[in-house]
This record gives sequence, C-alpha cells and structure tokens, in this order.
Amino acid sequence: MFERPDTGERAVLVHLDFTSDREREDPQEFKELVRSAGVEPMTLIEGSRGHPSPRYFVGEGKLEEVRQAVELYDADVVLFNHSLSPSQERNIEAALKCRVIDRTGVILDIFAQRARTHEGKLQVELAQLEHMSTRLIRGWTHLERQKGGIGMRGPGETQLETDRRLLRARIKSINKRLDKVRKQRDQGRRARVRADIPTISLVGYTNAGKSTLFNRITESGVFAADLLFATLDPTLRRMELPDVGSVILVDTVGFIRHLPHKLVESFRATLEETCNANLLLHVIDCHDDNRLDNIEQVKLVLEEIGAHEIQVLQVYNKLDLLDGRQPRVDRDEEGKPTRVWVSANTGDGMELLLDSVSELLAEDLVHKRLILEGSQGRLRALFYEASAVVAESYDENGKACIEIRIQRQDFNQLLRRAEIQESELVFQDHEPQVD
Ligand code: GTP
Repeated sequence: MFERPDTGERAVLVHLDFTSDREREDPQEFKELVRSAGVEPMTLIEGSRGHPSPRYFVGEGKLEEVRQAVELYDADVVLFNHSLSPSQERNIEAALKCRVIDRTGVILDIFAQRARTHEGKLQVELAQLEHMSTRLIRGWTHLERQKGGIGMRGPGETQLETDRRLLRARIKSINKRLDKVRKQRDQGRRARVRADIPTISLVGYTNAGKSTLFNRITESGVFAADLLFATLDPTLRRMELPDVGSVILVDTVGFIRHLPHKLVESFRATLEETCNANLLLHVIDCHDDNRLDNIEQVKLVLEEIGAHEIQVLQVYNKLDLLDGRQPRVDRDEEGKPTRVWVSANTGDGMELLLDSVSELLAEDLVHKRLILEGSQGRLRALFYEASAVVAESYDENGKACIEIRIQRQDFNQLLRRAEIQESELVFQDHEPQVD
C-alpha cells in the first residue's frame, strides 16, 4: 500500500456546474484525485452558474460560502475542479487569505509525487514550471509561506522565490535535458524494433486496475495502490508468450477526463510507448457505472496521441465484483478476440487473456520463406539488420532463400524502405512451422 504523504493538509473543494458546459467534470472523481494527492477533502462546495465570473470564477455569494468553510474546517488550501486564470487565482487567494490551486495544479501535484524515472521527473518539473510561470507574480506576502504541501511539491518550493528570468533559463535547460533523454529512449526503442520484440501497452481509465493486471501478468513487483495515478513512468517488462516469443509489456499512466493538453504533452514518455505498441490492452473496470463513458474518454486520448489505429483488446477487469460471472472471451464475426473478462485480483481469466493476446499477435506475425532475386539484396540486408532472419540457404540456381519472422508492421516498413512491393516477392509454398 502506498504511504500517503503526511502533510496533514485539509482542503475545501469547489465544483460548479455550468449550463453551457456539456463536458462537465465529475465532482466524485475530483475527490478521488485530491485524495490521491494526499490531501483530505473536508467538504465539497457545489454550485451552478451560466458562466464563470471573470473576477473570482464563482459568484461573490459562493465565495463567502467558501470563506466560511475555510474558517470552519481550518483548511490549508482551496482546490477548484476547474482551470483558473492566474488573475482569478490571485483574486480568490487575496479574498480568502488561503492558498488556491486549480485542477491542473492538483493533477500536476499527483504527477510530481508519482514520477519515478529521470525523464518523468523532468517532464513534471517542466509542466509545473510552465504552469507556474504565469502565476509567479502573485503576492505571496498575504499568505503564510510554508514549505511543501499540495501544489508546492517538486520545484514549486524553490521557484516561488525565483524571478521569471531564472525560470525561463530553467525551462530551457530542462527542455535540453529532455531532448537528450528522448533521444536515448528512441535508440532503446529502435533496438527493440531491431530485435523484433512486439510491444503490448496497457491503457485505461485511472483506477481500472492496470498496475494490478501488469503485476499479475508479469508477477513483477510494480507499484500498485488504491490511489489514482499509481503509475506514471513507462514501466516495461519482458515476458514470453506461446506462439509469439518475447514481448514487452508496458504499463502506462491512467487517463482522466479533460487532461489539459499541456499535460498530455508532458507525459509523452508514457504515451509514446503507447503509440509504438503492436497491441493495446484497454483495461476497463467492468463494475464501474461510468465505464462506457470512461471507454470513450480513453478512445479520445488515444486518438489525440495518434494511437487509435493500433489494434485493441478490451480487458473487462474486476470480474470478481460481478456476481456469478465467469471469465470468458468475446469475439467478433471473424472470430478474433475483442474482449476478455478477467479479475486481476484473483487471477481468474489470465490464461484466456494471454491466449487471446498470443492469438492476436501471432496473426500479426509474418513467418515465411522467400526466395530473393539478386536485385533484392537491400531487402535481405534490412531483414538481417532487423534480426528477422531465422535461417538462410541457397537453391540449386544459387538464389538466396531466407526464412523470416517479423511483425507485420515492421515487415511493411522494411518493404517500403527497400522500395519493393509485396507482390514482387516470391514466397515458398511450404509455410515454416510456427514455433
Ligand atoms: P492508475 O495508476 O491510477 O491509472 O490505476 P490503475 O489502473 O493502475 O489501477 P490499480 O492497479 O492501481 O488498481 C486500482 C484499484 O483497483 C486497487 O485498489 C486494486 O486493488 C483494485 N483492483 C484492481 N484489479 C482488481 C480486480 O480484479 N478486482 C477488484 N475487486 N479490485 C481490483
């Protein structure tokens, strides 16, 4: 179980419904997010308006209600389930004499606590600095300055004392370091493609059970906890699957509604792994009443990061919470697995899941013998470079006959690089035994 930071922070939460806003945030989810940040939600103040007020976001009557709640609960911070402009944040702080953090700030704080890899930390720091850079001029003198606490973790503690020039320099230097880390990671990814290892990425709405499933599948010790965003950095494990061989399993950060775009940008490490996957396991909490909506949210984010064309296997998790349901596989009209019902907690359905994954990936595998013409030497070299050649021999005419084993999408890519159409290739009739 993850240890919540013992900051002892008490928060008043504010959530408004806007008649104009069809994509409303969920106040219950916000409570969970706040708990994930290690802060205790003392009360939730709700209201509705036509539009946000430019000065305080909420109306003055509501502001007074918030002020009284801050006093009543002796709250350290007021958290808004909305994006606030820097001037709104400043005005509200001045009126309430209490720290105010908006939804983006809360999410960033969670990211800051969960970042584990060097790159993840850099990305969070960058996003925090960028979020803060417009807010630096606020008059902190009206607030008691305290170290730590929500929204002030990570770089926030020192940057408040720093002027904009230093901030810009810091942002520039982080960007430079990030570039370097990304390049290194790209090389790692290329090495994986070369070694022809298919990648499976676990995606899903936050709290769907990705980390638990990841653990269950790999029996590795990855961090899983009943907190949103228990996962931040890409967590990779290599494992063996029947009919496919080695695969890489990637755990990713959970998606949430309306993730601000700049945050999507700042978590490219996780999401890039997703874009390069051969198969996505979309983990869904089948016991959650919001599941259909959550599925749509995940699909939207996948589209946003350009991962929507990758084939998806839905994993309906937490089957143990549904009475009398047995693990099973649903298939489409062509017989392909589309959905597997499992419980990551009990392990029920794991075999069905792994079989379905193998089935989908094996179908994606090109495992053939082909006879190469003398003019196709470049393709032969590319197959070797990609470690795709299983065996090579020469026929009686001295032509090279190679047995290749490679993922379909890599195969297509190599053909394109060699400027050869698949129809120009001569395959040997006899298909090699799939090992
Ligand atoms: P984020 O990192 O926030 O995206 O969450 P996640 O999708 O990785 O979820 P995680 O694995 O941390 O699980 C969230 C909660 O759901 C934990 O309390 C798990 O114990 C619980 N959980 C996961 N799988 C199952 C399951 O099969 N059955 C039940 N009953 N609970 C489960």
